[in-house]
Amino acid sequence: MNRTANPLSRRHFISTAAAGLALPAILPSSIFGQNRPSNQITVGVIGWGMQGPEDTRAFLAANDCRLVAACDVDQQHLNDAVDTINQHYQNKGCQAYHDYRELLARPDIDAVIIAVPDHWHALVATEAARQKKDVYGEKPLAKTIAEQQAIVRAVQQHKIIWQTGSWRRSQASYRRAAEIVRNGLLGKLKNVEVGLLDGHLDFITQFGGTEPSRSIQPPPPELDYETWIGPSQMQPYIQARVHMNWRWNYNTGGGMLMDWIGHHCDIAHWGMDCDRSGPLEIEGHGDFPPTTDVFNTATTYRIELKYPGDIHMTIAGGDPAIEQGTKWIGTDGWLAVTEWGFECSKPEFTGRKNLPADLRKVKLYESPGHARNFLDCVKSRQPAVAPVETGHHSTIPGHLGLISMLTGRKLRWDVEREEIINDTAASKLLSRAYRSPWKLT
Ligand SMILES: NC(=O)c1ccc[n+]([C@@H]2O[C@H](COP(=O)([O-])OP(=O)(O)OC[C@H]3O[C@@H](n4cnc5c(N)ncnc54)[C@H](O)[C@@H]3O)[C@@H](O)[C@H]2O)c1
Repeated sequence: MNRTANPLSRRHFISTAAAGLALPAILPSSIFGQNRPSNQITVGVIGWGMQGPEDTRAFLAANDCRLVAACDVDQQHLNDAVDTINQHYQNKGCQAYHDYRELLARPDIDAVIIAVPDHWHALVATEAARQKKDVYGEKPLAKTIAEQQAIVRAVQQHKIIWQTGSWRRSQASYRRAAEIVRNGLLGKLKNVEVGLLDGHLDFITQFGGTEPSRSIQPPPPELDYETWIGPSQMQPYIQARVHMNWRWNYNTGGGMLMDWIGHHCDIAHWGMDCDRSGPLEIEGHGDFPPTTDVFNTATTYRIELKYPGDIHMTIAGGDPAIEQGTKWIGTDGWLAVTEWGFECSKPEFTGRKNLPADLRKVKLYESPGHARNFLDCVKSRQPAVAPVETGHHSTIPGHLGLISMLTGRKLRWDVEREEIINDTAASKLLSRAYRSPWKLT
């Protein structure tokens, strides 16, 4: 369906229906000139590696959406995407794309899942917004703060719905934890610990594959390596530096710090009411392998951050005293929500129930599931549980921590202007040079 050409556009239908006007629940598909029920959201997936299929599974299970297109620059991954989607629907309706811009130019596509490596997020996301596609976009929002700012601007300008892939926001235990903190039940918040992973994890052997080569080789025929590297600096092809393991090289990823910041700092911020705020001072230290190593991202790291309200945050990877997850410490108690469970110094809060009504003055967003919430918001045009601004602010502490580690000094951050104060060299690391011909517009 061409939304601009059709007077009864999908968005019009959705917003009219949301306004409570009497329309039949399902209009005949002929109205839209498409062979699909009109209440279905058409979706394309861009990037079919580790997370693309995982994200797509929830969309395939939803009756009110239809996967109609897939894009990847690795032909084997693309074939797998198309086969998986077509097998699910028992048809041949999924169209394959090598170039994400062609998929995004399709007027009948309403929304896209973006699960490409971090170095590609900004270009794909801003183009998706420009083409007015709603986006389920993976964390971290982008490779640099400047790219994140470009995504936020594009989403706001084109008024698209955005869900960041920080799916813990849709889990009841994380919401309940953040609500306990937000309702002041730990007293005045003093310290927050964000525990992340350390080291490098070779995902290929982790999933039972043969250890990837660390030597320079010609790229395999199925991979368009030139496009895969895209806006990052051209490096010779090394298998261990591409699929999944791109995270462990700063040309394409941000190491464990940036891989995990969008999860546990996201939850920390929820409890701190910092979805539109951030740290004032940041000081980070890390252990770095030689920059020439195939995996060159920090192995262990520790970042100390000062937040408004005299709150101190520690982000650590590789400190056994800081568990993987989020811990809030207040004047009256502490609460930790980790990968393994939910612990609180006040046992009355450790159950699975919501807080009693008299204590639950602040009620946080209750999402029925991350993809489900996104699809609901595509219809209602209301913000999703993890909108773009939230995804942006959740990862800023990680980006700034990394810049502090790389420059070897403490940084001061202007939260309103989103600028590093009085440090030209550090400020340069807020953005990165794009390899020609790629440009972020
Ligand atoms: N939310 C979560 O829990 C979670 C978990 C894992 C990964 N992620 C995120 O998902 C994203 C993808 O990570 P991954 O582990 O799946 O990586 P991956 O390397 O396994 O998969 C990425 C896929 O994107 C393809 N690709 C690269 N450039 C492309 C382009 N320009 N156009 C189309 N396809 C392109 C690659 O060929 C590959 O198939 C990352 O941002 C990562 O941080 C999120």
